[in-house]
This record gives sequence, structure tokens and C-alpha cells, in this order.
Amino acid sequence: MALPANGKDPPAKGVDGAPEPALEVVGLRAYYVMAYYGIEREVRAVDNITLTVNKDEIYGLAGESSCGKTTFIKTIAGAIRPPLRVLGGTIKYSFLDRNLYDLDEATLSDMRWSHLSCVLQGSMNVLNPVRRIRKSFIDFAYPHMGLSRQDFFEAVDRHLERLRLSPDVLSAFPHELSGGMRQRVTIALATVCHPEFIIADEPTTALDVVVQRDVLAMILEAQQQFRSSMIFVTHDLTVHANISNRLGIMYAGRLVEEGPTTEVFHEPLHPYTQHLIASLPRIGDLSRKVALPGSPPSLADPPSGCRFHPRCPLAMDVCRQAHPALTTVAPGRRVACYAVDPNAKPESDLSLGEIAAEARTAERVVP
Ligand SMILES: Nc1ncnc2c1ncn2[C@@H]1O[C@H](COP(=O)(O)OP(=O)(O)OP(=O)(O)O)[C@@H](O)[C@H]1O
Ligand code: SF4
Ligand SMILES: [Mg+2]
Repeated sequence: MALPANGKDPPAKGVDGAPEPALEVVGLRAYYVMAYYGIEREVRAVDNITLTVNKDEIYGLAGESSCGKTTFIKTIAGAIRPPLRVLGGTIKYSFLDRNLYDLDEATLSDMRWSHLSCVLQGSMNVLNPVRRIRKSFIDFAYPHMGLSRQDFFEAVDRHLERLRLSPDVLSAFPHELSGGMRQRVTIALATVCHPEFIIADEPTTALDVVVQRDVLAMILEAQQQFRSSMIFVTHDLTVHANISNRLGIMYAGRLVEEGPTTEVFHEPLHPYTQHLIASLPRIGDLSRKVALPGSPPSLADPPSGCRFHPRCPLAMDVCRQAHPALTTVAPGRRVACYAVDPNAKPESDLSLGEIAAEARTAERVVP
């Protein structure tokens, strides 16, 4: 699917030419912790993730089902509900002077919509089915805009027009709109306060390709008009090829590769990324695709060492002992693999005792 080429314009640079961070995540661990008959069991959905999203950029996050993408998104959005627990790490947005989890509840809710907005798969459910769309704009956006009622609706009309939506949609009930149109209204709602940061989790996955293209074009338009930074999650690599400036690949709760999207596509470094890219269908390519053996591990009982080792054609002894740290191997390229960087630092998995100790100090459950 081809989108406007400007979707991949490089992000803006700071005064010294270096990209300015919009979101910095360091050492983030978020597990689902459940107890059965007094025995604790944890699903290690987000395990020691460190990444930076720069201002004005779209950072794509990919990986197969159940690798922890949505859990990561919930965690950086501050939407933590049991059994999910944040066990360690920090999350800093450029518009905050503190770690997200050091904010009180009132500051967190002030920040949502006005500074940080989410567009999620099925997020059209945010629209109240028995009330007109106008009411959803009043409920969610009006309290954050500090405008009189009349100025607010003038601003909403202008916003819809800029995103090529007719203001008539405000009078519709959600069921009167198609799925694609509801998703476009949701994007308009999520961006009406011109948030600095947008989180999008599989916003196009349930849509057919033509509608998907329109929705992606609209997301790009909103991101560019309001110079927002964005993290965009989808397992569909072809969507990332069209929309993301940089791409992070997750496997079994860990970030295993990161780089500019075009470089990751042209020269994938991690064996898992190489497999994902080689699996993409190409017109005229009749070569036989070779499936990876096995399936992704259970995050309740992940394999020791590199979590990819049971499926990796290059696995060595060291790979079974300790997970390789994500290392910078070229400008802008990070990868966690001993075959790519034999000097990669081994990371030790935290013991249950250490996790419990961290949980007591770092746990923050947002109601
Ligand atoms: N509420 C929950 N309680 C316990 N485990 C959960 C819960 N939600 C998700 N998980 C587990 O956490 C792991 C990561 O799930 P997550 O939804 O983050 O993956 P994902 O990459 O977003 O997958 P998908 O591409 O299918 O959306 C999975 O093993 C999943 O079963
Ligand atoms: S660290 Fe070892 S097992 Fe993991 S991807 Fe690299 S070569 Fe394969
Ligand atoms: Mg998901």
C-alpha cells in the first residue's frame, strides 16, 4: 500500500542537529503477576525494554502475536491494572519533569488527551453507542481545551475539516457510521487537543486494505500537522514500511532489534528479523518460504538465555546461558544477538526474589 511519500520525512532535529527525545523508556519491566493456590506465577510480557522516541518521529513497534506489544503500550500510557504490575524502569515524556509513575492521579488525568493520546484497535468503542459523536467530543476533549462552548465547537469544526472530515459527523450516532469512518472520528477525537505524543496500537488491523490506507493517511496527516511524536504498533510490517521512521522488533517480551525502517528492511541483522522480512510476500518471487521451527515461547516460562535460541539456526552455547544485551552495532542500529556482536554483554535474568524486592519498591498500580 503506498502512502504519501512525506510520511517518511526525517524527524526534526534539535539546535545541535541531534534528535530531541520525546519519550525515554529505560529498563522497563512489566509482568502479569497471578497467584494460584498461593503460588505466584508471572507472565514476563515486558522485560527490560529501553528505547527512545524522538520528537516529530513515528517509532514503529513490530513482533508476532503475544510478544508484549500491547502490554508495553499500556505501560507507557500509564494504564496499569492488576494483574499487570510495573516492576522496574522509568518512563519520561518531554512534557513531564518526572517519571510517569511518580505522578499523582490528578496530574495523570490532566495529561491524557491534552499531552498524550491513544488510538487503539477497536478504540471506536470509546464512542458512546447511544449518544451522538458530539457528546463524545464534549466528554473527552472539552474539559482539556479551556475554551468557551462556542469556541470549542468552532475549534472542533476546524479540526475535522483539516482532517478532511465533514463536521456533520458530530450529529451522527456511532452505529450510523462505517467501521473505517468510526476509526477516523476516533483519530480526530484523539488529536483535537493537539497532543505532543500519540500512542497507536493496531489502529488499522481490523480494517480492509482500502479503508486501512485512508486511516493511515489520516494518522500521518494528523501527526505532521500537529508535529506530534508517535509510537505506532502493528504486527504488519508492510504498514511499518509506509509509516514508521524507525522500527523496533520485539520477541518474547524483549526488544531484539532497532534501526531506521529502511535499513532494517534492507539489512535485517537479528535472525528473527531476517526471518520476518524474508517471509514477506513479494510480487514475482516464487521462491519457497522456509518456516521457522517451533513457536514463540510461553512468557510464563521463557527459555533461558536468548529467548529465540530454541528456534534460531545460529544458536551457540552462550545463547542458552544468558540473554545478550541490546547493543549499538552501527550508528542508529541496535541488536541483541551474539552472532551479530560476539562482544554483546550478557544480561542476567532477575531471580524471583529480586523481582519481589523490586516490586515492593517500584510497583505502581494506576486504578
Ligand atoms: N490480562 C492479562 N493477564 C494475564 N496475561 C496476559 C494478560 N494480557 C496479556 N497477557 C499475556 O501477556 C503476553 C503479551 O500479551 P500482549 O497482548 O501484550 O501481546 P501483543 O504483542 O500485543 O499480541 P497481539 O499482537 O496479539 O496483540 C501474552 O502472553 C498474553 O497472554
Ligand atoms: S543470540 Fe544466539 S540464539 Fe539469539 S538470535 Fe543471536 S545467535 Fe540466535
Ligand atoms: Mg496487542
